[in-house]
Amino acid sequence: MPYEPVISKYWKTPESWTLKQYQSRGDYWGYAAAKKAITEFEPKALISYVKDSNLRGRGGAGFSTGLKWTFLPENGKPRFLAVNADESEPGTFKDRQILAYDPHQLIEGIIICCWAIGAKHAYVFVRGEFVREINRLQSAIDECYAAGILGEDVLRLGKGFKLDITVLRGAGAYICGEETGLLSAAEGKRAYPKIKPPFPAVEGFFRFPTIVNNVETLSNLPHIVGKGKEWYLQQGPAAGPGPKLYCISGHVRKPGVYEAPLGTKLRTLIDEYAGGVIGTLKAIIPGGSSMPIFTPDKLDLAMDFDTVRSAGSFLGSAGVIVMNDSVCMVNALLNLAKFYHHESCGQCTPCREGLGWLEKLVHRLEFGHAHDNDLDLIKEVCGMISKRTICLLSDSLVMPVESYMKAFFKEFEYHVKEKKCMTGGQPGVWAPCEEPALAR
Ligand SMILES: Cc1cc2nc3c(=O)[nH]c(=O)nc-3n(C[C@H](O)[C@H](O)[C@H](O)COP(=O)(O)O)c2cc1C
Repeated sequence: MPYEPVISKYWKTPESWTLKQYQSRGDYWGYAAAKKAITEFEPKALISYVKDSNLRGRGGAGFSTGLKWTFLPENGKPRFLAVNADESEPGTFKDRQILAYDPHQLIEGIIICCWAIGAKHAYVFVRGEFVREINRLQSAIDECYAAGILGEDVLRLGKGFKLDITVLRGAGAYICGEETGLLSAAEGKRAYPKIKPPFPAVEGFFRFPTIVNNVETLSNLPHIVGKGKEWYLQQGPAAGPGPKLYCISGHVRKPGVYEAPLGTKLRTLIDEYAGGVIGTLKAIIPGGSSMPIFTPDKLDLAMDFDTVRSAGSFLGSAGVIVMNDSVCMVNALLNLAKFYHHESCGQCTPCREGLGWLEKLVHRLEFGHAHDNDLDLIKEVCGMISKRTICLLSDSLVMPVESYMKAFFKEFEYHVKEKKCMTGGQPGVWAPCEEPALAR
């Protein structure tokens, strides 16, 4: 039987972002799942239920959501939920669809989470460029206050459960998506990531216990409560199941966000959902631009957290980027090097300086000025950066550099020896045709 979407089911319905439409859907939709969670589950039982559903975070790391909630200390301090809606990883564009087309689904997930973790205030930290999304989310929140769904007595159930939701706008920096960088920014400071431990669950927003969860993660909750964890566990591999929004872009005929169960084959996603490759397939990034690259022999891989990891990459944010044989891998890497160098917050020296070095080295490789030992130098620089910084932003470039050089070594070698590109001279789709001056 073909898969029936759950999270994206109503995205194409007119006015799908309004409370009226959300409440007209019947079944467990329209805040019935939140009502069930609050009336039928004690908070701790709800945490166990979510843990048993094996829901894993959709923000990148794939960590167990229920388990993360159990890390909150019992110290009597107020707790917060910070919703990560920063979505800045190149190749990832799913959370913005939830915000734009189904913000009530997210709000319902927030209510369920806050009931479970005992939070009275949730902050949704949204990437500042998402103007339409922010407006839709804010008007959905306003509708909820007016209808008594949020505020002093959530859903007017008389359970003493008070909940406020505040939308915070980021200023458009990639680092604001890193959970501790997000919290710094939410506190009104420069978005510097913080050393972990302590993890946010123990010391987060203004040093209060804080759960940080991604938009898509939270949007799974109404379905887990509404349809039941038994149903959920059957959607893909039991160790990490559920509906998944895959973002498919690059050289495919129908790029877009497609919902399929975790564990759907890469080949199915590309050929059946995204309409197939334009031209001849050369490479696939499985989980957003920072993840190690795959060659076409990985097409039959199941796209779930554990299988992708055991094949040498990560599912990450499920940003599948497809490249055909017109792409020069050195050129593609230069594009990423520019991005990650630009987005380094500058707090840690290996990242601030090292990513600049990598950009310079890949730049001279791409434009025919490479020195004979540059490939070794690149590897050496990677070794000096990796795992020596507070957050993983530096590894977000190191991983592609190492994997591109490993999978397409001949191309890199050709650039060193022949001072030009193996794919036919002109740089590929992602870079200008003339050598730009290095800005820094
Ligand atoms: C450099 C960097 C950028 C990140 N950007 C995002 C992001 O834009 N959105 C997101 O949800 N998680 C992002 N993450 C992951 C978060 O730090 C965190 O793991 C996630 O929000 C936790 O939510 P989850 O458990 O629901 O996945 C990023 C991590 C790093 C290291």
